[in-house]
Amino acid sequence: MGTGYNRRSSTRMWGGRFSGDTNDLVQAFGASVEVDKRMALEDIEGSIAHASMLRAQGILTEQECSTICAGLESIREDILAGKFVWDIALEDVHMNIEHELTKRIGSVGGKLHTARSRNDQVATDLRLWLRRTGEEITGEFHQFRSVLVDMAEKHLGVIMPGYTHLQVAQPVLFSHHMMAYYAMFTRDSERLSQALDRMNYSPLGAGALAGTGFEIDRAATAKQLKFEDVALNSMDAVSDRDFVLDFLSCASIVMVHLSRLSEELILWSSQEFGFITLPDSHTTGSSIMPQKKNPDMCELIRGKTGRVCGSLMALLMTMKGLPLTYNKDMQEDKEGVFDAADTIRMSLRIYSTMLVDIQLHPERMRNAAGSAYSNATDLADYLSRKGVPFREAHEIVGRLVAICLEEGIPLESLPLEKMQEISPLVGPEIRECLRLDRVVNARSSLGGTATTEVERQLKLARLQLSRETE
Ligand code: ARG
Repeated sequence: MGTGYNRRSSTRMWGGRFSGDTNDLVQAFGASVEVDKRMALEDIEGSIAHASMLRAQGILTEQECSTICAGLESIREDILAGKFVWDIALEDVHMNIEHELTKRIGSVGGKLHTARSRNDQVATDLRLWLRRTGEEITGEFHQFRSVLVDMAEKHLGVIMPGYTHLQVAQPVLFSHHMMAYYAMFTRDSERLSQALDRMNYSPLGAGALAGTGFEIDRAATAKQLKFEDVALNSMDAVSDRDFVLDFLSCASIVMVHLSRLSEELILWSSQEFGFITLPDSHTTGSSIMPQKKNPDMCELIRGKTGRVCGSLMALLMTMKGLPLTYNKDMQEDKEGVFDAADTIRMSLRIYSTMLVDIQLHPERMRNAAGSAYSNATDLADYLSRKGVPFREAHEIVGRLVAICLEEGIPLESLPLEKMQEISPLVGPEIRECLRLDRVVNARSSLGGTATTEVERQLKLARLQLSRETE
């Protein structure tokens, strides 16, 4: 049997009612161990909590419990040392570990699964795995958000164009632009923490679907595993995967945000923009064009957004027609969520290391910011402050822009008399009003781009970041 996957029914952990062997293909197709072995430590942690509870409830003796726990500990050591041999014939991480336990400690190992099913076991393991991984990712967020604030602080004063429709709109501080991302990634991090809080309820003890007749103590295992409480309804506990969807939605939104930032860095580092130079450490060359320096990391992160959103979509589709409670379809939940977690963790780390070494070209940014009549709104504002209704002011400035376009000059170069021909209200102080720094610093409404307002954001961000590490 070429593949070596076939097993006698005595090796299968549910073999009793079967007389025939499992087809090779079925075994290979149904096995998930290559994927779910990543939850091995969580599986052992859950099993130890379960065994301790069974002991406390008098369902296992002291001796049985300590033999089981010692066996599990020795398996844990082997897994950590990379010595554990996984067997695809044993289907998944749960049965691999349980089978090995019995091999090591004898038939008492078979008592571990009392009052438990793989259905509540897998739901518990995955929640524990996501909780741990999610917390690590929150740490990556913290680092990345600190780097954003550092950058915004370091370059305070650099003016760049702000865009709408990717057309120059109004000048802004580069720091204001970076702090916009800080706000987005702060929400992403909070969203992830909220999802982790929401999933922090223990399914253990739900059994296959209906609970168990043994006198178990679900609150005890929940407490030992540091869950907030139990997931009360046993059918819900084993059958929903909304916590995985929650995590994947968070991951998808993070990737969409990173993808937008990537797109901007790609544009800004192009010859046409020339606003920034990406560090050599995070760019690559071309095998044919010696002059090239490509923003590969930004592109890859933008590209990987597809697979993370794809995993969300895949699991939504997997779940949509499933009757309660557990269905084998749900085994498909892990690959996508593991991949999404790896992808956001790596992407955040790459960004944290890349941003610190980005070089700005403030002259280019400033020139671009002053182009394309980006101060036209300020002229209209000036007129409306003098009592001209804004709509009319808009119309007047539009005509002035048309004249300047014709002559190929910026607004501030149009002689005062010419301006006064269109609007006699314009006075000599207009020159000052149209200066780039003035234009930026005039936008001092709460949360605007004026230096004072960006400083406010920076201060609050610093406070927020330092509170998170308390
Ligand atoms: N490997 C399975 C999964 O990930 C574990 C649960 C199996 N339960 C069952 N009744 N077949 O979904």
